[in-house]
Amino acid sequence: MGKDVIVACDFSSAEETFRFLSLFTQEKPFVKIGMELYYAEGPQIIREIKKRGHKIFLDLKLHDIPNTVKRAMAVLARERVDICNLHGGTVGMMEAALEGACQAGGDRPLLIAVTQLTSTDQRALEEELLIRAPMEEVVIHYARNAKKAGLDGVVCSPLEAGKVHEACGEGFLTVTPGVRFADGDAGDQKRVMTPAQAKAIGSDYIVVGRPITLAADPVEAYRRCVADFVG
Ligand code: C5P
Repeated sequence: MGKDVIVACDFSSAEETFRFLSLFTQEKPFVKIGMELYYAEGPQIIREIKKRGHKIFLDLKLHDIPNTVKRAMAVLARERVDICNLHGGTVGMMEAALEGACQAGGDRPLLIAVTQLTSTDQRALEEELLIRAPMEEVVIHYARNAKKAGLDGVVCSPLEAGKVHEACGEGFLTVTPGVRFADGDAGDQKRVMTPAQAKAIGSDYIVVGRPITLAADPVEAYRRCVADFVG
């Protein structure tokens, strides 16, 4: 898979999601289904979006004991999505997730681990989570662990994508939320970059939600992202 823009469909119903996706008459954006939509609609929403021809990143960020994660991932992998994820954690948990993803047979989804959420900044990392190291070092450490477990890549801020590639290789995927247009509102995101900056630093996929979903013209905003990121 090449560089692409993944649209975060953070909606609370299938109806709202399809109203949004129906705006796209010329293109089939890569879609991210997150917790809100999945918990509202269940696995049927994956099947319906797939049927319309979209690629799917299922962003449910699993994190539990290895056995539970393995069994849950095996169930999700049966839906034949393109990318699945989990929160970075112990190497054992990430290996178990990979085993689960392989259990469905055939092509397994790409499996990526969240390093540190893009809404977390250095202060929260140190004072609230008691992780006393620079953000970049923490992210690289989580990425190395994900690679050791055999995963395909990580979710990180575009600010860290270049360093992750240096540490884990160019083929190790960096999927980067926290993307904003230069003239846009950052909202709750703390570690942000524009699509063009994300491209320059080597992100493989950018995940863009509100700058597209809340835009006056979502299709125009999507095209602007694609033009700036994919080129
Ligand atoms: O609306 P916005 O562009 O901020 O959406 C970013 C999306 O990426 C959200 O769906 C959020 O859950 C997800 N995400 C993130 N940071 C991570 C992992 C996922 O913002 N580290």
